[in-house]
Amino acid sequence: FDAVDVIRTKRDGGSLDPAMIDWVIDAYTRGAVAEEQMSALLMSIFLRGMNAAEISGWTGAMIRSGSRLDFGSLRRDGKPLPTADKHSTGGVGDKITLPLGPLVASYGVAVPQLSGRGLGHTGGTLDKLESIPGWRADLTSAAMTTQLEDVGAVVCAAGADLAPADRKLYALRDVTGTVDCLPLIASSIMSKKIAEGTGALVLDVKVGSGAFMKTRDDAAALARTMVDLGRDAGVATVALLTDMSTPLGRAVGNAVEVAEAQEVLAGGGPSDVVELTVALAVEMLEAAGVSGVDPANALADGRAMDTWRRMIAGQGGDPDAALPAARETDVVVAERGGVIERLDALAVGTAAWRLGAGRARKEDDVQAAAGITLHAKPGDRVTAGDRLMTLHSDTPETFSRARESLNGSVTYSETPASPIPLILGRVA
Ligand code: URA
Repeated sequence: FDAVDVIRTKRDGGSLDPAMIDWVIDAYTRGAVAEEQMSALLMSIFLRGMNAAEISGWTGAMIRSGSRLDFGSLRRDGKPLPTADKHSTGGVGDKITLPLGPLVASYGVAVPQLSGRGLGHTGGTLDKLESIPGWRADLTSAAMTTQLEDVGAVVCAAGADLAPADRKLYALRDVTGTVDCLPLIASSIMSKKIAEGTGALVLDVKVGSGAFMKTRDDAAALARTMVDLGRDAGVATVALLTDMSTPLGRAVGNAVEVAEAQEVLAGGGPSDVVELTVALAVEMLEAAGVSGVDPANALADGRAMDTWRRMIAGQGGDPDAALPAARETDVVVAERGGVIERLDALAVGTAAWRLGAGRARKEDDVQAAAGITLHAKPGDRVTAGDRLMTLHSDTPETFSRARESLNGSVTYSETPASPIPLILGRVA
């Protein structure tokens, strides 16, 4: 094949055949197709789309660009250990992985989470967990297996050999305006999750201002494509569509989100975080063959907290250590009275990022203590001057830029509106 022929085929609205896709992904991963050629092909895909067969071929080629993990040999008490994982398409205040892994593991299903770091306005699970003194993401695969068999839950950094084609393509998409493209998002996420080797997968597809997909229809189409890709690869896959018009819970950042996750594990915490954690746990357990349990019980009776403590300790962390606190705080108050109608997720995520909770470039460090705590959420009534949120940062010069991104992020009404439901749909 010739890269220019592949680009012309897609540019002119044709479909790429499987051999062409295999060739172009392999040649690009090896460096034999140039960045400018792949940029042109990605833009052609962005404009022309891909059919189901092309998306499936593209996903398969990205899986084959690296190695595939296999958890089929995990055993506990001599019996095979089922595996289930969750992937969220990314949200603001989305710390659900933290309580969810230990919760599901409390019911005898192993949760091998390979997570990423945050880039842009959504945080990364590894960045959050690294605010716990001593905690490490870089486990060997032998240590990961041992922790899965003993504790049942692990959160690691994905190795360089997991879908390396996606790693290269994602970085290129980021700088060529081709990230928000359904076929490319679906193949990117699913190549990594299928290569990870989980037996069951639950997708949390976010809808709203803080998400890739701004409308329910777009999110449903993305969910459908990903569920079909998973099922075709032999992974039991279901998706929930969930609201991301406002942040999840009352904490957005790193250490502040760990603290909130610990409240949920202790049987408390904000009701939206608890609701989504339990709903996703039910789906993961069912997909892994465990039905008829109410995971809320393991939050209430301490089993999930016990598994969390063993998971953190197993990776070098001290579950009892004090979490870092920011050097400075700044309080944002309500400009007027009324019922909060909207508290925009993207604005809060961007503000937390500017405070130092996220990074602008891959090589930047994040501040463990930076972030935002919300004192009021949509549906709450406030009077002028009430505290709306507290900004936390070690770099107080960021407060004014963070406040700028919060301009217009809160709207008020006189009467309570009916709240947007958190769980908007299910795709199986
Ligand atoms: N997350 C991914 O891993 N890939 C995408 O393309 C978008 C979100």
